[in-house]
Amino acid sequence: MIVRLTFLGDSVAAAGTALLLGVAALPPVQQDPAAASAPAQPREIPIVASRFAFEPARVEVTEGERVRLVVSSADGVHGLEIKKFRVNKKVPRGGEPVTIDFVASAPGEYPILCSEYCGNGHADMTGTLVVAAKGR
Ligand code: CUA
Repeated sequence: MIVRLTFLGDSVAAAGTALLLGVAALPPVQQDPAAASAPAQPREIPIVASRFAFEPARVEVTEGERVRLVVSSADGVHGLEIKKFRVNKKVPRGGEPVTIDFVASAPGEYPILCSEYCGNGHADMTGTLVVAAKGR
C-alpha cells in the first residue's frame, strides 16, 4: 500500500511537470505545410503595418478563397480596412498580431486602408487586395 501511494504521488508530480513543460514548449500552430494548404484551411497571409505602409502592399488571392490576414504593427497603432469585405480591425502597437478572416467572394481590386489615425502619412497608408477570378 505504501508503494502504491508513493507511485501515485510520483505520477501526479510527473504529470504536473509535463503539463508545465508542455505549455511552455507549445509549438506554433500550422507547422504542417500540407495542413496549411488543405482546402479546409484558410490561406494565411502575414502583413506588417508600419508608418506609413503595409508590407506586402499588394495581396493576391483567388475568388472564393478563405483568407486569414495575420496583421502586426512594427511601430504604433494602425488599422486594416477592406470595405468590400466588411473588414476593419485595429492593429495594436507592440507587434501583437491580430487575425482577420474573410472570404474573397468577388473578383476585383480593392483598396486596403489604414483605419486608425497614425500620423502625417496616415492617408497615404494604403495597399491593394487583388482577388483573381476563379478559372472556369
Ligand atoms: Cu497607419 Cu493610419
